[in-house]
Amino acid sequence: MIMKTWYNHARYGMFIHWGPYSAAARGEWVANRELYSKEEYTEECVRPFTAARFDPREWARVARAAGMGYVVLTSRHHDGFCLWDTATTDFKSTLLGPGRDVVREYVDAIREAGLKVGLYYSVADWFHPDYPGAHARDWPQCWPDEEKRRRFVQFYHTQLEELMTRYGRIDLLWYDGCIPSPTDGEIINTRVRQLQPHMLINNRNGEPYDVHCSEQIIKPGPAGKLWEAGMTLNDNWGYHAGDRQWKNARAVVRMLTETASIAGNLLLNVGPMADGAIPRESVDILLEAGAWLRRNPGWLADSGRSPFGWTNWGRITVKDDRVYLHVFNSTGSRLRVADIGNRVLRVSYLDGGGALPFTQKGDLVIIDGIQSPPKDPIATTIMMEVDGRPRTTRPQTSFWIPE
Ligand code: GLC
Repeated sequence: MIMKTWYNHARYGMFIHWGPYSAAARGEWVANRELYSKEEYTEECVRPFTAARFDPREWARVARAAGMGYVVLTSRHHDGFCLWDTATTDFKSTLLGPGRDVVREYVDAIREAGLKVGLYYSVADWFHPDYPGAHARDWPQCWPDEEKRRRFVQFYHTQLEELMTRYGRIDLLWYDGCIPSPTDGEIINTRVRQLQPHMLINNRNGEPYDVHCSEQIIKPGPAGKLWEAGMTLNDNWGYHAGDRQWKNARAVVRMLTETASIAGNLLLNVGPMADGAIPRESVDILLEAGAWLRRNPGWLADSGRSPFGWTNWGRITVKDDRVYLHVFNSTGSRLRVADIGNRVLRVSYLDGGGALPFTQKGDLVIIDGIQSPPKDPIATTIMMEVDGRPRTTRPQTSFWIPE
């Protein structure tokens, strides 16, 4: 049994990929994919990474209006550029590019807005002399030698100590690129836990961890662990000016109902531009989905794992004594809801449209009088109040998909 935490309450967070690569506007892997030397990268990406319109209070405003409960910022990505005033390297935002301690301003603004504070941290560091290779096509499999590995581990450990001791309470440490092994993750996780005892840690640097992450796919972690799906709004994490593959607000709500139905979180990414502004398209999508969440309140925070199987009309989420039917594919004015193991007490639209007539025959509930065509282009959510914790009469334990 997982302890209820702020993390279950939030269910929805904002991932922010922002760094010198934002100036290249071709995604966060540009240095690796396009064979940039550190000098070229500094000239072409770090210098124009101005942060001229960087305003983390605006990021926080968008996150809140979107309905999110936490934010995770790339304190440094695989390019090794540090967004804080580290003592370990000159490749940092206080000396180059923004000329500011981005992490400090970010942490203060996010905390002030009442959001939980997450820091993404990549262990991989393409341009570090002890790290194996900036331009590898596969993740490097081993360290050049043990001395370099040790020195590198000491280096990243020191960076994490800075992040864990200078900025007050950090709620989530989001590791990435903990490759090649060993990175001494267990020792370091134990240490950062001493520094931030309440902090949640993701699974990418090994045990001990709290949050299992899936990437660009919605897939729960092992039983008993918190879990999160990290997803992009287009096809890139870092800002890419040419990537027009935008998801829409409906897709966002679909992802959210899916993660919530499996008692997980959605960490949805934005890639601000070099000046710090979040692309207009991303803001519009997030705010439209946020408006839908405000119209359809209460189902997301602390949602539990739904015992119900899949349907052809949408997604079922549960919370306390309530079953939420999120209808994405209208079935007209009647909806047949199968496998309900509870007595249904009341059925209504979640957006306040009033009670709906229904009949219950055993475990089949038939709801009538649903507005058709649907009044909300994103989804119609119908709430069933039931006699206790939602139960199913026909559990779905596996689902066979032919190959
Ligand atoms: C991958 C990518 C990285 C991105 C991360 C987000 O590990 O290497 O660019 O930041 O996924 O989950």
